[in-house]
Amino acid sequence: MMDEQEVARYWEGNAETWTRHVRTGYDVYRDALNTPAFLALLPVVHELSGLDIGCGEGENTRQLARQGARMQAVDIAPTFIRHANETEASEPLGISYQEASAIALPFTDAAFDFTTAFMSMMDIARPEMALAEAYRVLKPGGFFQFSILHPCFVPPWRTRG
Ligand SMILES: C[S@@+](CC[C@H](N)C(=O)[O-])C[C@H]1O[C@@H](n2cnc3c(N)ncnc32)[C@H](O)[C@@H]1O
Repeated sequence: MMDEQEVARYWEGNAETWTRHVRTGYDVYRDALNTPAFLALLPVVHELSGLDIGCGEGENTRQLARQGARMQAVDIAPTFIRHANETEASEPLGISYQEASAIALPFTDAAFDFTTAFMSMMDIARPEMALAEAYRVLKPGGFFQFSILHPCFVPPWRTRG
């Protein structure tokens, strides 16, 4: 199993290319299928405070902000956070992005009305800690919504020794 630092190195190494590709429409699965399905299931978030965990370059965080949520977002790869912040500077939606790990969120307990993770929980080393953190920062009665790859796409033969 990869540890957090190794996962972070891989994502950081891919972040520039990933950002260029998703922003030119190559993440068809995300944009045509996953995100629309995710948003269709999402409760009303207008005027709620939310945290997007593993936000990448931030497109899905921006979708939540466009629905009226007050968003913060974290990712472990600094290049993603730089791109997200550059977009926030040129097209402000009031989103605060920061480089941080899902397994040690830099927020107090009960800070958010809701948390989200779009296709990131299965990429995080120690997902059980990320889940505990997503819960810790939620206000009582808040919700955590996430999407992951179906386990049938991550069979044991993909596991590194
Ligand atoms: C498949 S991408 C999804 C990105 C974004 N949510 C989207 O839908 O475009 C998975 C993301 O998880 C992030 N990630 C992996 N481990 C992380 C960790 N420990 N803490 C925060 N983010 C992490 C990666 O850097 C990457 O941006």
